[in-house]
Amino acid sequence: MGTGHRSLSDNTHSGNAVGSDVRAAREFDAPSIAGLHVRSFQSAYSGLIPENRLRSLDVSARRSIWADRIAGAPDLARHILVTEVAERLVAFIYYGPSPDADEDSAEVGHVFSVHVDPAVTGRGIGTNLLAHAVKSMAQTGLTEATLWVVDVNPAARRFYERLGWRRDGARRREHLGLEGEPGPEFDVETVRYRLHFGVPW
Ligand SMILES: CC(C)(COP(=O)(O)OP(=O)(O)OC[C@H]1O[C@@H](n2cnc3c(N)ncnc32)[C@H](O)[C@@H]1OP(=O)(O)O)[C@@H](O)C(=O)NCCC(=O)NCCS
Repeated sequence: MGTGHRSLSDNTHSGNAVGSDVRAAREFDAPSIAGLHVRSFQSAYSGLIPENRLRSLDVSARRSIWADRIAGAPDLARHILVTEVAERLVAFIYYGPSPDADEDSAEVGHVFSVHVDPAVTGRGIGTNLLAHAVKSMAQTGLTEATLWVVDVNPAARRFYERLGWRRDGARRREHLGLEGEPGPEFDVETVRYRLHFGVPW
């Protein structure tokens, strides 16, 4: 694990910088994150992606992807925070500098994904986790952040809008989410949202 990850972990464990129930992901979290990712994806995109494709998503393939990300690939400046409730991992957020070609990655952060266990959505867990990620990005000197959300994911869009994120006009067609599952039915229209951090953290 590289320096970037270590410094976030240290903050997490020593100073409660990211809260008592929120911590940096560790190597042993990969299976839980992979399982949650698939469950949340299946719940969020039911009706948008054919059910047989959703049911066939392979959790084991995602364990190594998340293990690599926790270890710092492909970019040590990316981070994963998780939320635990009663020692069970119930949410994660994956963020870092913007990968978008039209953004300045020294200034603009990016939320790659945020997922809350469908069994515990609507209880403020996502709000809390996103706030910690924004705080973490602001503390590294970033001034704003973006994310891409599926156009027809009204619950997620409402979630971001309630927290001050706004559409910035960019849109694109992209391959939806879970790596290693090619297929035209996974191509969706996405819109970009943006949050100016504005206040000092
Ligand atoms: C979108 C998502 C991350 C939001 O997480 P969440 O934990 O459900 O969000 P919150 O509970 O913080 O807020 C959501 C709703 O709960 C309400 N809420 C917030 N705190 C609450 C609390 N303490 N008690 C009850 N309700 C609460 C909010 O008012 C909000 O309602 P609204 O959206 O109708 O305005 C989550 O639903 C999810 O993982 N969805 C599937 C994956 C997805 O779409 N991810 C985003 C794209 S990658």
